[in-house]
This record gives sequence, C-alpha cells and structure tokens, in this order.
Amino acid sequence: MAAIGIFDSGSGGLSVLREIRKILPDERYIYYSDNAHCPYGEKSASYIIERGRAVTELLLSKGAEAVVVACNTATAAAIATLRSEYPVPFVGMEPAVKPAATGTRSGVVGVLATAGTLKAPKYLNTKEQYADAVKIEERVGRGFVELVEGMELDGPHAEAVVRESLEPLLAAGADTIVLGCTHYPFLLPLMQRIAPEGVRFIDPAPAVARHLVDVLNDHGIALSDPDPGVELLSSGSDATLKKLFNLI
Ligand code: DGL
Repeated sequence: MAAIGIFDSGSGGLSVLREIRKILPDERYIYYSDNAHCPYGEKSASYIIERGRAVTELLLSKGAEAVVVACNTATAAAIATLRSEYPVPFVGMEPAVKPAATGTRSGVVGVLATAGTLKAPKYLNTKEQYADAVKIEERVGRGFVELVEGMELDGPHAEAVVRESLEPLLAAGADTIVLGCTHYPFLLPLMQRIAPEGVRFIDPAPAVARHLVDVLNDHGIALSDPDPGVELLSSGSDATLKKLFNLI
C-alpha cells in the first residue's frame, strides 16, 4: 500500500495538505508534525537536516513513496541532502516570488517568511532574479508560528503580533504579499482584515499540489489508494494538529 508522506516543523504543513487533498482526495497521507522541535525558523541547517532525516526515515518505514516537505525552512535547509540520500521523490516549498513579481501593480512585493528561509541561498538567488523588476520588502513573521501552534488564530494579541510584521510591508507600498511559511495561511483571515482592500496574498500551496501530481506521474507512483485517508503523527502533543486538521 502506497502513501504520501508530508512533514513540517508543526501543523503549518496542513495548509499544504489541504490543497493536495483538493486535487488528490483518494490517496493515503501520513502527516508528521515535528512539533517537539518547532520552530525550525531560527535553527541551523545541520539541525534541520538531522530532523529531516529522522522524519523521512519514519515516513518511509510507514510506506511513504513520496515525501512533501511542507515547510519552506526545511526545504531551504534540507531538501537537497534528502534528495541525495533517499530513493523517493521529494517535493518542497519556496516563497512564490515569481507570481508575485508578475502580478504586482505597485511594483512592491512583500515577503513574509522565517529567518532561515530569508537567508537561504535558494531564496537569495530567486530574489536577485527579480530585483530589477520589482522592489522586494521582507519581514520575518515574528511570533506567527507560535500563534498557530497555540491555536491563537485571532483576537487582540494575535492581531498585535501580526500587525508588527505585516504593517511595515504595507507601509512600504506592497500590494502583493508572499506567504513564505506554511503556518502563515492559517493567519490569512486576520491578515486580510488588517490589509487594505486590493492587497493580494500568495500561498504557493496550490501550485505545489499541482506539481506533486506531475512528480507522482513521472515516477509511476499509482494514484488512488485502496485505503485513502490521513494518518496524523507528531513528535510532541497532537492537540493543535487535530484541531487544525478539523479546520482544513
Ligand atoms: N512552517 C515552516 C515554514 O514553512 C516553518 C516554521 C518554523 O518552524 O519556524 O517555513
């Protein structure tokens, strides 16, 4: 029996699972929240690679035939190593700078992501490519992951935390904001309330889901499992994972 493994530092990757299940509803998924080691955002690349290995081995031992690294930070730090060490396809996440740069009318793109993602060579290269065409303003979504892991998706405290990182991007004139961390889409309703009308938020998850279909086809991985469903696993408490899963 085949399955698709998905992991993140926590529950954020559920925002990716949501999009994947929209187009591949009849698969078997094993979702792993590495929340005992969350957040990954400020951790070293070697630490994240070690966690990536441990989680990948667990997912493979449970029958995963492909792995979605549903975490921008882990993709930036570890996906190249994981691809070189394990015999299954890996699909990763990266901030959607390209569609943002194409779509902006103000010429200013805002990027919200973790510190690890914003300093990764992959992101820096992408940014460089669009530097002539648009102005890119970036901020770490400081405290966003903790809000989501704490199931605090709204309310005065959540709003203050989100404003702190989002408002400087708006003040710089960004009309298109890239959600460069898979936790952040859970704060989207709050962000949309704070941002003026017309500001567009871009989540790469739908594009990643479409890419996964191509990758599975390219590798001849059979679609439609006889026993579809989602198995939720975590290295720490599964309380938030279960609650957020019920929201997707
Ligand atoms: N959800 C993750 C990402 O997409 C990482 C959040 C964290 O653990 O800092 O980057």
